[in-house]
Amino acid sequence: MTSLTDYKQFFEIALENSCSTSPPAALYQPIYYLLNLGGKRLRPILTLMAADIFGNNHRKAIDAALAVEIFHNFTLMHDDIMDSAPLRRGSATVHNKWNTNTAILSGDAMMILAYQALESYKDPLFRKLNSLFSKTAIEVCKGQQYDLDFETQLEVTQGDYLEMVRLKTAVLIGCSLKMGALIGGANQADSKNLYDFGVLLGIAFQIQDDYLDAYANSESFGKQLSGDIIENKKTILYHQAMENGSSKEKTTLRNWFSTEVKEKNVSKKINAVKSLFDKTGASDASKALVIKYTQAAFEKLDILDISDNNKIIFKTFGTNLMERKF
Ligand code: IPE
Ligand code: IPE
Ligand code: MG
Ligand code: MG
Ligand code: MG
Repeated sequence: MTSLTDYKQFFEIALENSCSTSPPAALYQPIYYLLNLGGKRLRPILTLMAADIFGNNHRKAIDAALAVEIFHNFTLMHDDIMDSAPLRRGSATVHNKWNTNTAILSGDAMMILAYQALESYKDPLFRKLNSLFSKTAIEVCKGQQYDLDFETQLEVTQGDYLEMVRLKTAVLIGCSLKMGALIGGANQADSKNLYDFGVLLGIAFQIQDDYLDAYANSESFGKQLSGDIIENKKTILYHQAMENGSSKEKTTLRNWFSTEVKEKNVSKKINAVKSLFDKTGASDASKALVIKYTQAAFEKLDILDISDNNKIIFKTFGTNLMERKF
């Protein structure tokens, strides 16, 4: 298999077959709903692709691909509660369509379903996959906690930000690739380098996500625009503005992010903050960082023991990610 559409289709058929319709409906319907809202399926595609490249066998990786995508959607269900997000993939978030308790419990069940998907693998592969998955899962929790802590923490450095992003987003991308590589029988050095490629690509991916949150086209974005500004998220745009702004601009930005804003003043805050992002050059600097981390990821590909054609497949994937609009 070579085309991304083929991988996506192959994955989505398996996902449809794996969804339970058994009672209680209130537990399973939200799971089915979110999983079928049409995500980009980046992580499972990477798992399948890596298994093909290293072992010429994407079929063997389908259960790991299901695990990473179901896990990812679990994190989104809970993330949307934590971020008070009304929209996901252009539709109502689970906690808004149902309620918070439902989103907590269906999310919990998804995490368990993700682990169950891995049970089809035999030892010693199962043990390797399971321990990589657990390590990743706890790191994602740590990253999500830092993300929340930083909303109210006054001093957050760009280094703190990068570590938070590595944990909440990048390690799952690394894990998706490494699982595919392990299933394909890659050696230790290649699995590690592929993991590192995924982590750097994942950092670029989250920086781009932060950029899009403020600057995407609202029709295609599928999430509430400027949700990060409303929630006082210390995104890359914030850090770049704090690094390059004048002391007056920095004080104004800090004030917007540390005072309670009434509902009627939310648009005013969004406009003021975005104009600071523009004036300080934060939006351009953030775009440049997406390119920088993507290039750094590509350097990891150079040392992989795979054919040039296969390196191009991963590179094309990375280049497309950089140019995405949602
Ligand atoms: C959203 O991930 C959460 C982040 C880590 C930024 P995606 O942008 O991959 O979401 P879907 O699955 O395609 O909707
Ligand atoms: C999400 O980060 C990371 C995880 C879900 C673990 P964001 O909060 O930026 O993701 P979006 O923007 O809601 O998709
Ligand atoms: Mg969010
Ligand atoms: Mg979040
Ligand atoms: Mg975001």
